[in-house]
Order: sequence, then C-alpha cells, then structure tokens
Amino acid sequence: MCGIFGYIGKDMPVASYVEGLSRLEYRGYDSCGIAAIKNGEFFIRKRQGKINQLKCELRDELNSQYPLAILHTRWATHGKPNQINSHPHFDCKKQISVVHNGIIENYLSLKEELIRQGHKFVSETDTEVIVHLIEKYYSGSLEDAVFAAVKKLSGSFALSVISTRTPDELIGVRKGSPLIIGLGRDGNFLASDIPAILPFTNKVIYLKDGELAILKKDEVKIFSFDKKPLGARIEKISIHPQDAEKKHYEHFMRKEIFEQPEVLRKIFSLYVTGNTIRFPQINLKNPFLKKVKNVFIAACGTAYHAGYIAKYFLEKYCDLDVEIDTSSEFRYRKINFHTGDLFITISQSGETADTLSAVREAKKKGVKVLSICNVLGSSLVKESDGLIFTYAGPEIGVASTKAYTAQIMALLLFCLHTAHIRGTLSRKSFCRMLKELGQIPRYQKEILGKEKEIKTIAKDFSRFGCFLFLGRGINFPSALEGALKLKEISYIPAEGYPAGEMKHGPIALIDEYRGVICIAPQDDLYDKMISNIQEIKARKGKILGIVNRTDTQASRLSDELIYIPGLKYQDFSPLLVAVALQLFAYHVAKNLGREIDQPRNLAKSVTVE
Ligand code: G6P
Repeated sequence: MCGIFGYIGKDMPVASYVEGLSRLEYRGYDSCGIAAIKNGEFFIRKRQGKINQLKCELRDELNSQYPLAILHTRWATHGKPNQINSHPHFDCKKQISVVHNGIIENYLSLKEELIRQGHKFVSETDTEVIVHLIEKYYSGSLEDAVFAAVKKLSGSFALSVISTRTPDELIGVRKGSPLIIGLGRDGNFLASDIPAILPFTNKVIYLKDGELAILKKDEVKIFSFDKKPLGARIEKISIHPQDAEKKHYEHFMRKEIFEQPEVLRKIFSLYVTGNTIRFPQINLKNPFLKKVKNVFIAACGTAYHAGYIAKYFLEKYCDLDVEIDTSSEFRYRKINFHTGDLFITISQSGETADTLSAVREAKKKGVKVLSICNVLGSSLVKESDGLIFTYAGPEIGVASTKAYTAQIMALLLFCLHTAHIRGTLSRKSFCRMLKELGQIPRYQKEILGKEKEIKTIAKDFSRFGCFLFLGRGINFPSALEGALKLKEISYIPAEGYPAGEMKHGPIALIDEYRGVICIAPQDDLYDKMISNIQEIKARKGKILGIVNRTDTQASRLSDELIYIPGLKYQDFSPLLVAVALQLFAYHVAKNLGREIDQPRNLAKSVTVE
C-alpha cells in the first residue's frame, strides 16, 4: 500500500532511483513521483499512472545524478489518483518535501487549523497536512520540526522527509506502516520493503513503530519520538537481487506459480529430518501444544484461505476446536479467550494492518500468537510469540500464488507436528502422511507440465461472464481461493461456494453461459460432489472438472478436465488444486489482455485498515 524509496549519499543517477522505486510498484500503482535535491534546488516530476510512464517522462534525465531524493508509488486513499494528489508533497515555500504511506486520521482538523493559519493546500490528500505541519514547526532544524509534527499526527504513517534547507539529511519516520533503512557503501537508503534496496545493499535496519531515523550520507541515527537516541540493529539479508526479478517470464505471477515445487521442497527439507518435524522459531512448548483446546485463526485474502485449510486439518487430525475469521472481522468481535488458547495468524507480508490489529487484540487478552509469515523483519513477526517462516522468497505478483501454497505446507507440517505431540495421530499414519507431503512438489510439477492444456481450456472459458467454483470439505477453501484468483486478475465475477450449499441460492445463476469449476478429487465427499455436479449438468452449466486421472464419474459429467495426481491422503490435494486453478486464472486473464501482475484497484500489502 504505497511504496517509499529514498537515498542520501554520493551522487546516484535518476535511473537507479527509479529502479529502486519500481521494485516497490506491487504496493500501489495509481501514480508516482520523485523529488531530488541538488545545489539547494528541487528537481520534481510526478505522474498519474505507472512507474514506466514516469520513466518515459524522465528519459532525458535518467543519467542525471543526485545525492538526495525521495520517491513514491501510490495506492490512493484520500483523493483521486491524479497528478496533483501524487506524492511527493510540498510546503507553501516549496522547501520541504514528504512522501507518505498510511492514513492520517486527524488530517481534516489539522488541515482546517493550518488553513486558518495561512497555509495553502493544493491536493485532496491527507499527506499534505504533514508537510505543512513540518513547515509550521520549522525554525532552523528539520529534525526538530519533524519531531514536533509527528506528535500531532494520529493514524498510521511511514514518512520520508527532505528539505532544500538541509540537503545533508534524509529523515524517516515509522508508526504503523513499514519502513526499512538500507546501509550502502556510498550512501544510505529508506524503503518500504526489502526488494527496493536489494540492488544496492544487503545490510538493513528494520525501523520499529515509534522510531525516527536521521540518515546522513555516512551515518544513521535512530531516535524514539521523544528524541531518546536508540541503538541500531543491523541485519544481513540473504535474499539475492535476482530473486525479486522476472527473469525470462512474461509475468511475475507465472514465475511465482512455477517456483512452487522448489519453495515447497525447501520448506519441507528445512523443517523435516527423517520422521521428525522441527520449527526452530515456533516458541511453543510441547506441553502447551498438548493441552491447547481452542485455536483461533485470523488472516486476510489468500492467507485466510490457507488458514481455512488448516482449520479442517487441525479439527480432523489434532482434535482441536478451531475458529477462523478474516482479520478485519475478528478484531472487532467479542471473543472469550481462555488461558491456553492459541491464536494463529497467516500473512505473506507481515504488514497487513487488519491482521496486525487482530494480533494486538489477541495479545491484549494474553493469548499466545503463532505467525505463519514470509517476511522475517516484518511487524507481525516482531509482535508474535512464535513464527513458522514460509521461505517463499519475494512475491511480487499482486495475486498471491507461491506464498499461498507455502503457507499451506507450513500449516500442514504444523498440524502433523501438533497431532504427533497430542497423540491424536498414530505414528504409522504420521510417517505415511509426512512421506506423501514430501512428494507434493513432484506432483505439482506434473500439473505445471500440463500448462498448454490448461491454457486451451482457459481460452475457451474466458468467454463466460460469471463463474462458480465449487468444492467440499478441505477443498471448499480451494474453491474460495480459485474464485479469488480469477476475480483479482481477470475482473470476471466469480464465487467460491461449498458445493452442498449451491442449491440454497447460487444454483439460480446456472445456465449455459456460466463457467462452473468443480473440484472433485476422489476423497470421502466424492459421491456427494458427484450429485452436485449432476445438478449443474441438468441446468446446462459449462463444467470444468478438477479430477484425478482414475476418475470416471465426474469426468463423464464435465465438459473439460484438468487432471491432478491422485493422493493416498487426499487432504493434501489443495496443494495441487491451487496450482491448476492459478494457471487457469492466469491464462483467462492473459487471454483477456489484463494487467496480470498489477490488477486494477489492488495492492499487495494492505497497510491501511
Ligand atoms: C492483499 C493482497 C492479497 C493478500 C492479502 C493479505 O489483499 O492483494 O494477495 O492475500 O492482502 O496479505 P498478507 O500479506 O497479509 O498475506
């Protein structure tokens, strides 16, 4: 949700600044801009639209060098996504500039006061009050003015501030929205996320909430909002710059779909040795896991669907009572937690505002929080009691793919580990299940090998104006996720439904113009699913069956088929169904000419509530 990039140091070409910013474009792409300072003057460019458009506008200036600049890519909250509302924003005298990620909740009252005091506003954004506040408090020290302004702001914000009056400093502020510092050889960086600094450095400081950083070209100082100096915690990142690049793939999404077998293999090999599962950072003692009764799961979007799959697993194999909700609902519910309950959150970014709020609510009530997360330095990881890291590497495509199956793999291993500790699964079954889970990457590869066939089916199905995704049991969440993937990137209305519920409403939608995806592996609910497919067939719905090779009944009823390998433990099938449905959504969207990696109105990391 908005990307911030800033640098102070030896001269750096505009092209490098733009490169840093484009690595954050997944956070928002409504508009973008740069404010650089040289010889006491601002160089400013802003553009509605994507970073490529800004790059085109800057084509004659890409080699110009600047020692200091801040940049921003926006996901609009307050004010339309036009050029005026684009960041950076400026004070009345155009001497101070600010970029912002987050929401200033009290901006209206601040704005009215500042207008009364004579400040002139040009945009509709909440951000502009920040820079006018800094101007108001400025009396010779930019740092002091920022310290004073920050105290007046409520809401969430990550800020980057520069001024032509103090061209030797770059200020970063964090409260509620992420901001990191990269320590380079020739200068220092501010960024919303790691991918932006990967081409420049692997040394990073994760700013914490309530911290303000003053960056000079060869020094970084960190303070609390009440000006107490704090020590810097420098960490080394092991991600390679190429991990965040598209390589030969046309889209990040396709690259990330194809990376899944490798990601799952990595997770499995890092957490499983022989027949033992070990999570080094879980921080939950075996006696706790043995006694826990109630589990609560909260997450958003795709991560919520991964959690839904875990719910079925924890109930079936660990004999636990499990409740799941989206974080935005969970955090406002009155839940009666009991000592010994466990709260699990799942998040790719670890910065989703609603998920963080849900965690804070649970922690307030003394519940232990375990996070399944893909970003080590994220707020979620810092605030949780324990972590299962998902090792998916940077996920850039806005529609989540490899992070999803990585979450499921991590959760399934956690479930097996818990079942083993609780004695709710026999040793024999535990070992057999573990063995089959280790085979999943190979089975995923088989599905990836069928891309050509899936592409042809997707082409045919892309003519439908509405889709239903149906599944039962553990594949009901797969249906939800399949529908979400399709909506996100193709903009075709799609609903995920438990197949048995279809007759209570959605069946009214069925006719020959609807695409119906029926997830029907040969599991315990197969016969029930067949009856549901019959009901669709009778109403002329166009059926795409996701079935096992040995299937006979669903195949006969379907118009098209995607085969997935049969499993001894069909409860692992969501890891296979996901790959098939991701490829299906990708090719429908591609056929319709959609912007696959950056679908309209979406952003990858939702840091506002
Ligand atoms: C956004 C993204 C989704 C993602 C969700 C949760 O809506 O577009 O792809 O699943 O946020 O994000 P998280 O980082 O918490 O997994």
